[in-house]
Amino acid sequence: MLSEQSAATVRATLPAVGASLDEITERFYAGMFAARPELLRDLFNRGNQAAGTQRRALAGSIAAFATHLLDHPDQRPDAMLERIAHKHASLGIAPDQYAIVHEHLFAAVAGVLGEAVTPEVAAAWDEVYWLMANALIAVEKRLYEERGGREWRSWEVVERITETADVVTFRLRPVDGGPVRGFRAGQYVSVRVALEDGARQIRQYSLSGAPGPDVRQFSVKRVRDDSAPEGEVSGHLHARVRVGDVLELSEAYGDLVVDADADTPLLLASAGIGVTPIIAMLADLADAGHRAPVTVVHGDRSPADHALRADHEAYAAKLPDPTVRFWYEQDAPEGAGTGYVDLTDVPVAPGTHAYLCGPLPFMRTVREQLIGKGVAPADIHYEVFGPDLWLAK
Ligand SMILES: Cc1cc2nc3c(=O)[nH]c(=O)nc-3n(C[C@H](O)[C@H](O)[C@H](O)COP(=O)(O)OP(=O)(O)OC[C@H]3O[C@@H](n4cnc5c(N)ncnc54)[C@H](O)[C@@H]3O)c2cc1C
Ligand code: HEM
Repeated sequence: MLSEQSAATVRATLPAVGASLDEITERFYAGMFAARPELLRDLFNRGNQAAGTQRRALAGSIAAFATHLLDHPDQRPDAMLERIAHKHASLGIAPDQYAIVHEHLFAAVAGVLGEAVTPEVAAAWDEVYWLMANALIAVEKRLYEERGGREWRSWEVVERITETADVVTFRLRPVDGGPVRGFRAGQYVSVRVALEDGARQIRQYSLSGAPGPDVRQFSVKRVRDDSAPEGEVSGHLHARVRVGDVLELSEAYGDLVVDADADTPLLLASAGIGVTPIIAMLADLADAGHRAPVTVVHGDRSPADHALRADHEAYAAKLPDPTVRFWYEQDAPEGAGTGYVDLTDVPVAPGTHAYLCGPLPFMRTVREQLIGKGVAPADIHYEVFGPDLWLAK
C-alpha cells in the first residue's frame, strides 16, 4: 500500500494531475511513439490513436487507482486490475514494457506540470505507478501461466459464414493440429493481422460459439460509416480473409463470465454486435442446465441486422425458464418492440445477476433501469467493445 508520506503528496497533487490528464496523455503517446514507432505500428490500436477519443484510458486508470488507494487504503481495486490485465495479456504485454511506459509517462507529467513536479512529488507518483504496474504484472503472469505462455498461435480459417450485410463469422482450427484450450463463455481473443502497409494491428473479438468444440468462432462487424475512415482490421477481415487463410490469435481472455450458480436468475442484455459474448453464454447455460429464469434482451437496427439471431433464439429456447424480448428500430415483427431496448415492462426477479454488452449509451440506460428495479450494482457486469473508459472514471 501507499506510504503515508506519498499518500499526502498524491492527495495534494491529484487535482492538478486530473485536470491535466488530456495534455499528459497527448505528450505521453507522442513521446513514446516517437521513440518506439513499432509500438504504434504493431501493438497499440492506431485507429483509437487517430480518432483521439479514447486515449486517456491508460493515464486515467492510474489516476483512478491513486484515488482508490487514498479512499480505501486497505483494499486493492481487484476488478479494475483484472480487467486491464486480461486486455494486456490478450495483447501479449511483457513485464519489461512497463519501464518504457513509465519513462514516457513520467516525462510527460514533468513536461506538463513543470516545476510542480518536485523530487518528492515524482517519488510519490512513482510509488503509485509501480504499485499498479507490479499488481498488473503479477496478474498477467498468472494469466499467461494458466494458458501455457503468451505466444501467438496460427489458426486456419475453416469456415466463413455471412450472418448479415455487415457481420461475418469466422471458424478456425490451429494450424499445428494441436489441442484447443477451453475458454469461459463471454471471453474474447485478440486477433493480429498483417496489413498492406506492413503494420500488424491487433483487435479483440468475443468468442461467439459454445465453449468446448475444437474450433474457435468469432463474428466481426464491419465498421464503416460515411463520417470516418473504415475500420482497419474489421475491413481487412471482411474484404480479404477467406477459407484457407491463416490468422494469428491469442488464447482466450476476459473477465465478463457468468459467475452464478444454476439457481440465480440472470438477465443477458445486448445491442448490435454486442450479442457475441451473450450467444456463447447462452449456449453454455443451456449446456450446463441453468435452472433459474433467464431473461434475454436485445436491441438492433432491424431483424435483418440482428447477427446470430437464430442461435440467440435457439439457445434461449433450450433453457427451462427463458423470457426473450427483442427490440428493433425498424421493421419490428409482431412480438418484438419498436425502438430502443426498454425494460419498463420486463419483470426482473429478485437476486438477478445481469450481463450487458453493447454501446455505452445502451448499457447506461439498461444499468439505470436495472438499478431502478432493485438489481444490486455489484451484480451488473458489462463488456465494452473498445477501451473501457468506465474504468478511468
Ligand atoms: C473485449 C472486446 C470484444 C470485442 N468483440 C467484438 C466482436 O465480437 N465483434 C466485433 O465485431 N467487434 C468486437 N470488438 C471490437 C473490435 O475489437 C474492433 O474494435 C472493431 O472491429 C473495430 O476495429 P477496426 O480495426 O475495424 O476499426 P479501427 O481502425 O480501430 O477504427 C475504430 C474507429 O476509429 C475511427 N477512426 C480510425 N481512424 C480515424 C481517424 N483518422 N480519424 C477519425 N476516426 C478514425 C474509425 O472510423 C472507427 O470508427 C470487441 C472489442 C473488445 C475490446
Ligand atoms: C501501470 C501501467 C499501465 C496501466 C495503468 C495501463 C492501463 C491500461 C488501460 C486502463 C487500458 C484499457 C483497458 C480496457 O479498455 O479494457 C490499457 C490498454 C492497453 N495497454 Fe496498458 N497500461 C499500462 C501499461 C502498459 C504497457 C507497459 C503497455 C505496453 C507497452 C500497454 C499497452 C496497452 C495496449 C496496447 C492497450 C490496448 C489499447 C490500445 O491498443 O490502444 N499498457 N492499458
